[in-house]
Amino acid sequence: MNHCNFFQSSIGKKVVMATTGIFLMIFLLLHLSVNLFLFSGEKAFNEAVFFMRKNIFIRMMEYVLAVGFFIHILLGVQLHLTNKKIKGEIDYAMNSYLTTSFSSRTMVYTGILILCFLGLHLINFMIPMKYSDPRHLISDYDIVVTLFKNPYYTFIYVFSFFILGIHLNHGFQSSFQSLGLSNKKRLVWIQRFGFVYFWFICSGFSIIAIWFFFNDN
Ligand code: HEM
Repeated sequence: MNHCNFFQSSIGKKVVMATTGIFLMIFLLLHLSVNLFLFSGEKAFNEAVFFMRKNIFIRMMEYVLAVGFFIHILLGVQLHLTNKKIKGEIDYAMNSYLTTSFSSRTMVYTGILILCFLGLHLINFMIPMKYSDPRHLISDYDIVVTLFKNPYYTFIYVFSFFILGIHLNHGFQSSFQSLGLSNKKRLVWIQRFGFVYFWFICSGFSIIAIWFFFNDN
């Protein structure tokens, strides 16, 4: 199989989806780690965000992140459409250990909801940063705290983190499966790590939103 055929094949697409998915999961870990500085106070969080923003490596990785997101979404939708069309005809050997769970069947829908969340999230943070009066620049901390004073946003964010959890629950194990790194023995450990990972991400982000909704800081 030449390179072109590989990337156009379902297996090739799954490998690219898995690679971009793992990259996005690492991003989420990093993003949550920075966000947890919110609990150390305004100065600590603003400094952490400032550090990330000034870091040339992180700046470069943001472009990789944007491309990663784009490819992951594009291939995800493509795979969903192909699978729908030829449902039942192809049984991927890679999927043989997986039973079709709710989260695996709903990947494309949870993915679309996460994309909607991402649009809202970027608007929430980019508009106040870009258009605030430069003489009274709102700090990143203030933007987060103000956002979670609004019950609608808190609800939408926590709901989105729940959806993200469902997506990650299948995505984590599926990526190892697609990369051929999983076998019957390892699957149990991959599932355990996946469980810890998605709970950490899902509850970590949710606790931030809920905490700042109930507490004045
Ligand atoms: C409590 C939850 C969250 C908070 C408080 C939060 C906060 C922030 C902040 C302050 C920024 C701007 C950072 C900067 O300009 O350097 C940002 C950017 C971003 N967030 Fe979030 N975020 C949350 C959850 C999420 C989740 C769940 C995702 C992904 C599904 C996500 C994806 C992004 C992306 C892609 C960016 C732009 C890239 C970047 O600047 O690093 N965020 N977020």
